[in-house]
Amino acid sequence: MSQDLWTKVDDYINSVAIGTDAALDAASAAAVAAQLPPISVTPAYGKLLHLMVRAQGAARVLEIGTLAGYSTIWLARAVPPGGRVITLEANAMHADIARANIERAGLTGRIEIRLGSALDTLPQLAAEKQPPFDFTFVDADRTNLTEYFDWAVRLSHPGSVIIVDNVVRKGAVIDASSEDPNVKGVRRFNDRLTSDTRVTATMMQTVSAKGHDGFAMALVL
Ligand code: SAH
Ligand code: DHB
Ligand code: MG
Repeated sequence: MSQDLWTKVDDYINSVAIGTDAALDAASAAAVAAQLPPISVTPAYGKLLHLMVRAQGAARVLEIGTLAGYSTIWLARAVPPGGRVITLEANAMHADIARANIERAGLTGRIEIRLGSALDTLPQLAAEKQPPFDFTFVDADRTNLTEYFDWAVRLSHPGSVIIVDNVVRKGAVIDASSEDPNVKGVRRFNDRLTSDTRVTATMMQTVSAKGHDGFAMALVL
């Protein structure tokens, strides 16, 4: 098993299940042109998020970590007319690129980008008494993952789904002595997940063109 094979199979899956898509391909190209880190979800993962939102009938979606808006476009395409995606991004340059990609995808009316650290914008959402979110995708920095998850649960309702990206980190997550702040952040979150009686959850490890990683899925009780 190797990255080369994972990439070839990922390319195959993406060609079978997704193929070319003008708006998404343009969003990826814009991210490359702006030299953003290549850490968007893969096409197959983006479509998985999209299908989860549709299967759940979610109309209000929260995303933490926008980057170029690649996952945001998948999420926004899944909500019904009148639905909404609020996506939180700390980096103004990322937000600008995302805004252009979202406009090109014809989704500006459905997506709101909130600029600022999620540690600030999440409490703002709560203070605004936003209606609860049906679905949340957590995909920002890992150091504050536990705090993001806690806010995501508080902004949810029973039946809401929360997906948390990058909880395996090439397997580093099993290293209890790791000093990597990302790994420590993920491990702190995983410990919380076990004991958090507000949710029931699982984790899946994945391989793809973006390596060995995984996501957690939590159902709010
Ligand atoms: N969800 C995107 C990828 C997100 S990458 C996709 O799949 O297409 C992670 C993003 O989180 C980056 O754009 C980074 O700037 C942002 N981020 C990092 N720390 C943050 C914070 N404290 N608050 C909000 N966003 C943050
Ligand atoms: C990283 C972040 C991500 O959201 C991701 O999907 C992959 C890698 C990172 O910061 O290394
Ligand atoms: Mg990620």
